[in-house]
Amino acid sequence: MRSFHSAALASTLAFAGITNALQVDVSSVQSISDAAKTIASNIIGIYEGKNGSPSIPGLFPDPYYFWESGLAWDSLINYWALTGDDTYNDRISEALLFQSNGEELDFAPANQSKSLGNDDQSTWALAAMTAAEKGFPSSLFQIDGQQTTNLWAQMAQTVFDEQVLRWDTKFCGGGLRWQIFSFNNGYDYKNSISNGNFMQLAARLAKYTGNQTYSDWALKASKWSFDSGLIADGSFNVYDGASTTQCKQLNRIMWSSSVGTYLSGYSYLSNMGSNQQYHTYAPKLLGNALKVFAKNGIVTEVACSGAGTCNVDQLAFRATYARALVDAKYIDTGDSIDTDAIDAVLKASAEGAAAQCSGGPDGSRCGSDWSSSEWDGTWGLGQYLSALEILLANIPDKGTQTSDDNSSSPSNATSTMSGTPSGTAGSASTGPAATGAANALSGSVFGLLGALAVAVAFL
Ligand SMILES: *[C@@H]1O[C@H](CO)[C@@H](O)[C@H](O)[C@H]1NC(C)=O
Ligand SMILES: *[C@@H]1O[C@H](CO)[C@@H](O)[C@H](O)[C@H]1NC(C)=O
Ligand SMILES: *[C@@H]1O[C@H](CO)[C@@H](O)[C@H](O)[C@H]1NC(C)=O
Ligand SMILES: *[C@@H]1O[C@H](CO)[C@@H](O)[C@H](O)[C@H]1NC(C)=O
Repeated sequence: MRSFHSAALASTLAFAGITNALQVDVSSVQSISDAAKTIASNIIGIYEGKNGSPSIPGLFPDPYYFWESGLAWDSLINYWALTGDDTYNDRISEALLFQSNGEELDFAPANQSKSLGNDDQSTWALAAMTAAEKGFPSSLFQIDGQQTTNLWAQMAQTVFDEQVLRWDTKFCGGGLRWQIFSFNNGYDYKNSISNGNFMQLAARLAKYTGNQTYSDWALKASKWSFDSGLIADGSFNVYDGASTTQCKQLNRIMWSSSVGTYLSGYSYLSNMGSNQQYHTYAPKLLGNALKVFAKNGIVTEVACSGAGTCNVDQLAFRATYARALVDAKYIDTGDSIDTDAIDAVLKASAEGAAAQCSGGPDGSRCGSDWSSSEWDGTWGLGQYLSALEILLANIPDKGTQTSDDNSSSPSNATSTMSGTPSGTAGSASTGPAATGAANALSGSVFGLLGALAVAVAFL
């Protein structure tokens, strides 16, 4: 992700004002679902391009970076979970499997090494986590129509394990660097999106598996984020990052995705009842974010939108933030979360986003200025993802954070999740107990993946 660059707007197209905005009644699930369907279709339109098929499975074409493709699949899983529309499920499965890097399962394919950040990798891991939590089905994991295994959670765990090894105490007292490889620009930078995503991933794995290793790391990442000043004591501003050689000289720009990823993490943790600290952080982070990232009560990417300088990445950040606002509704702190305030922001923002989805030849291209009822003349993946998530955020959902079995309908994800079939070296088996079905799978996970690779090729 290129968070500190600030290039020009994404695709600016000069279709004159056909005002055919998506008509959305945000109090109607059906109406939201209809609008979301249009946006999802536009997203797949970018993915498949003119040829009607992607050039590489899982990757959106230039100018979209790897992380944003991961975010797109996460949003489309959420779309399926909330609307029930499974039109894109095969594409989603194929995308996650193809980019999970073969038997490595770590979303660090060699093709991405020239710019692979911890944040890129964790964005994909969070998509896999959503798939695990929501019981996202894959025909590739079924035998006789029964779900046999859940590699999604294993992918998330694998990324977690790799990032733990990258936790770096030599500089700035801890934290993850932005970039993974020392030859890339940004290796000497520690940033909030990488560390916040790691913290969120740990929190969700903790919730999903009940394994304390994850909650310990979530706490550790949280503590370091305060110690380093990335999350400011007192104000609860979340800043972008600092160089490893000048740890105290923070780049104080603020992005909605950075606060969003921490907010989601704290929401999950607060529901585990494990540590009082989370109960005080989450409402404060939320309260400040609601003030910072708003214009007239509408979610706004304040660092760039006023000047019209949001780059391709930045246009997508509100997708992460919208999800976080939903997660925040389930923060377990008794009365101190003002869910009415969250709902008001979600509603006004969704209405604004729908009004922005009025551009292009068919009047459904989405711009990014949710405060204006007139299409701003831009469209692109970031605009679509932000609009999709803010619409979906208005669909009532109990949320995975609060459910007792750590997974949710429709499928039996928790009980069918297996770890690596026993005997395989190098992979942790940390999920809920493997089922008989999973144990019955013969061979190692590598054999299974070989079969999956073949299946992917035939999708
Ligand atoms: C890596 O790039 C090559 C060449 O474009 C492509 O054939 C292959 O599918 C890519 N692999 C992944 C995992 O993206
Ligand atoms: C769900 O997570 C909790 C920790 O929050 C854990 O105690 C419990 O065992 C988990 N439940 C299942 C079914 O995995
Ligand atoms: C989930 O799977 C387990 C083990 O196969 C089974 O005993 C249980 O009834 C299933 N639960 C649901 C809700 O399908
Ligand atoms: C808990 O998770 C960690 C990190 O993935 C793993 O190494 C460990 O084996 C897990 N513990 C259990 C009991 O599954």
